[in-house]
Amino acid sequence: MDTILVLDFGGQYCHLIARRIRDLGVFSEILPYNVALEKIKAINPKGIILSGGPNSVYGKGSPQLTMDFYQYVSNENIPVLGICYGHHLIAHQLKGKIESHDHKEYGQSDLNIIEKKGLLEGFNKIETVWMSHGDQIKELPEGFNVLASTTTCPIAAFANYQKELFGVQFHPEVGHTPKGKVVFDNFITKYAKAKREWKLENWVNQTIENIRERVGPEKRVILGLSGGVDSSVVAALIHRAIGDRLHSIFVNNGLLRKNEVNEVQKTFRDKLKFEGFHYVDAEELFLKKLKGVEDPEEKRRIIGHTFIEVFENKTIELEKEHPNIKFLAQGTIYPDRVESSATSKTSAKIKSHHNLTLPENMVLEIIEPLKDLYKDEVRKIGLNLGLPIEIINRHPFPGPGLAVRVIGSVNKEKLNILRNADEILIEEIRNAGLYDSLWQVFCVFLPIKTVGVMGDFRTYENICAIRAVESMDVMTANFAKLDMNLLEKISTRIINEVNGFNRVVYDISNKPPSTIEYE
Ligand code: XMP
Repeated sequence: MDTILVLDFGGQYCHLIARRIRDLGVFSEILPYNVALEKIKAINPKGIILSGGPNSVYGKGSPQLTMDFYQYVSNENIPVLGICYGHHLIAHQLKGKIESHDHKEYGQSDLNIIEKKGLLEGFNKIETVWMSHGDQIKELPEGFNVLASTTTCPIAAFANYQKELFGVQFHPEVGHTPKGKVVFDNFITKYAKAKREWKLENWVNQTIENIRERVGPEKRVILGLSGGVDSSVVAALIHRAIGDRLHSIFVNNGLLRKNEVNEVQKTFRDKLKFEGFHYVDAEELFLKKLKGVEDPEEKRRIIGHTFIEVFENKTIELEKEHPNIKFLAQGTIYPDRVESSATSKTSAKIKSHHNLTLPENMVLEIIEPLKDLYKDEVRKIGLNLGLPIEIINRHPFPGPGLAVRVIGSVNKEKLNILRNADEILIEEIRNAGLYDSLWQVFCVFLPIKTVGVMGDFRTYENICAIRAVESMDVMTANFAKLDMNLLEKISTRIINEVNGFNRVVYDISNKPPSTIEYE
């Protein structure tokens, strides 16, 4: 498939570049800037984009490309587009001059277009763009033209048409550059000449074929099914490919939300007719091991290890009946691989269970069919495969489940109180039509007793915290400015209907400096 390769120089928006290219129908992937040239050659990209980054080209140890790289793109006629640091780097390495500027330019700027053709065809004379730089190009190498400038940045875009090398100082990948897409579109169409073959339907059919081929006619696959979007979509894909030779293991760790155990079983066993659906009720084991444990990391560790233990035991049991289990499927998605991970607190993620310690004769190959996809692509595929919308649009839920939402030690009583409150919260948020626009919304059990009064009685109960956040990318999140009347309704219902809470507080902290979860 025609590919646009993005080389990552450490820019915070790097991820968005590949995203935008895919939105235009061309497959795109990101590799570190210093990836071996052989690897780039093997991909045979139709075009290469150099991302922005925090460095200065003159800085000690700043990331650079090799001269072999420039030779390769020139020999193979591969167009290159540099963005911000990438823009400086091309100019610098081909003997132009860069200077640091006293004033950092940060925010939206007016871009004056000098050449409205080529890379900037479709731009108006003046366009709003997003700038974020200190350094800028002072002098271009020979054979390069200036395409645009701003009042403080005379060389805000350049082209060397003959060599097909381009650069933009601004960030076309961010939403704050409204016409940014035009830059990528021009690059893809006019220079990279890449075919727009990245369509999810093609991807689904192709992936099912690949899984069938890889697993062959007899071997079997196991999968830890959490009921979340990623593992559900992997399950649905593999099930399409090999039917009952997929064994999905759904572990009830006693830390799931209300009704989740029933809903997941109903969906996969009854609705989707997964013959290889295996439910393991390990609630008691988990709660026994968690008894009295207060430290959040210790809780996570116990949950992670116990999961592996339960999952392995079930796998070994299944193996006795079906000696052909040779693959372990995982719901790893693209952002999981590119970022080191959104969170370091991932010990209990089913995704990270490479560390199974199965008997030697049971070495499993890993299958990760979603590893090149973004979350919204995974969601679309899930719908395409017939998964219910409730699973697809479900808010993220941490692997260690409600254990990170009960502060301090966990027991069944506290978990049930939390489940009941959380159910009310979600119901009210759904009724208000807000569920899909929020990143996550949930209740937290604060084991702090305060005094209340119910009718003629004095109460002495725990506090329920409500957390509702908006986020684009999980790295940052803002608390949702929920309507006070809605909050009042939720609070009243929780206090009246849930035994165990007599006070509700609303969390007004953003991330950073707070996190989304409490532990
Ligand atoms: P924080 O609390 O770090 O959470 O802002 C960011 C996102 O990650 C989820 N999260 C986890 N997911 N295992 C997981 O699988 C975990 O240990 C874990 N901790 C946090 C959290 O729900 C949010 O979406």
